[in-house]
Amino acid sequence: MLALDAEHLWHPWSPTRVNPDTVLAVSGEGCRVTDADGRDFLDAKSSGFNATLGYGRTEIVEAVTDQLSRLMTYDLGEGSTLPAVALARRMADLTGPPLTRTYFCNSGSEGVEAAVRISRFYHAVRGFPGRFGIVSLHGGYHGSTMGASACAPAPTPISSLVTAPGFTVLSGPERPDHRSLLAEVERHLTEHGDQTAAVIVEPVQARFARVLPDTFLRELRDLCDRRGVLLIFDEVTTGFGRTGRMFAWQHGGTRPDILITGKGLTAGYMSLSAVTTTGEVFDAFDRNKSQAGFVHGHTHSGHAAACAAGLAVIDILETEDLAGNARDRGRQLLTGLEPARSLSSVRETRGLGLLVAVELDSSARASGVRRRMKDDGVLVRRVGPAIILAPPLTVRSVEIEEITVKLLAALETENAA
Ligand SMILES: Cc1ncc(COP(=O)(O)O)c(C=O)c1O
Repeated sequence: MLALDAEHLWHPWSPTRVNPDTVLAVSGEGCRVTDADGRDFLDAKSSGFNATLGYGRTEIVEAVTDQLSRLMTYDLGEGSTLPAVALARRMADLTGPPLTRTYFCNSGSEGVEAAVRISRFYHAVRGFPGRFGIVSLHGGYHGSTMGASACAPAPTPISSLVTAPGFTVLSGPERPDHRSLLAEVERHLTEHGDQTAAVIVEPVQARFARVLPDTFLRELRDLCDRRGVLLIFDEVTTGFGRTGRMFAWQHGGTRPDILITGKGLTAGYMSLSAVTTTGEVFDAFDRNKSQAGFVHGHTHSGHAAACAAGLAVIDILETEDLAGNARDRGRQLLTGLEPARSLSSVRETRGLGLLVAVELDSSARASGVRRRMKDDGVLVRRVGPAIILAPPLTVRSVEIEEITVKLLAALETENAA
């Protein structure tokens, strides 16, 4: 199969063909996946941060199967479906007012794309088409479609081929002084506020597990309000329990005008994302129907079986208090990794809930750690010089112990290499 893969499959993010390091996953149970050779791995990265409830949850499979057998989908552009309505309602319950209106897409990138357009169109239908700019922070990741990638451009030699107009990336939370970061946003909005549609941030940047402090988010909220700029929180990775609250912004008591969620919404069982906005944003479109409104959508927007998966996932999250488990297991993980800080090659350990990073002094060393972890039966993600851990929210204490012990060993070996 790997030979056929090398011949025919084009993997995302990868110019290269499969290599002996590629996991050909064939089954999964709980936090573990098994490959085609029968090797078993503890998945400390939840596939692509999306298998948030682990593998083999029959309740979700049954909810999807049941929906598929009755009605797999029906076009939301013209009609509606029971699970889409129920899930939009459930989202409103989870977010609380004023976030009352949900627009469904299929992936995080599509969600970001829709949020960018909603922001621009929102100002345009109210008579301010010049409010076009989208401001984001360095170090984030918002997706790979044209608008989404413009919020966090990848620095490659050919990235100029996929640029889009009207995007400004300011410094990011890797800058230790958050006051000066806020001052930079303020300066930008003072100069360009009347040409700015929205500021988009991740409350915890998923790529490197960098946390934006609550005070920063609150002051950013104030700043946006003063300048009439919409505030978008991209919670594609952090939403649905990952950081120890249902949504990461709920740690700090501030709210976005637009919330984007994805991965954890369906826990990897189907593909779905959601853009949840305030009634005020939606009503602006409704009041200005003559302006054509929000002309945007996808054939599979709000696919009925995907929405059924979302409903089953939220039931499980609530019944098993998995945000609480993410908080407790996350603390266990960060505490367990404290000894790593004494290693000369470890720059920092950080994170919130079950989104944790160990930053090393080089990408090569981080690659070595990732490889050693895999050889030892634990899958982690490497981004640049950092190892990112994001196990399923269902992870048990003994599994956190296994990740910690094996990671400390791999870090020590690489430190000595
Ligand atoms: C914060 C954030 N936004 C957007 C995306 C894009 O989501 P997708 O890969 O589903 O398009 C991701 C994916 O990693 C993400 O972490």
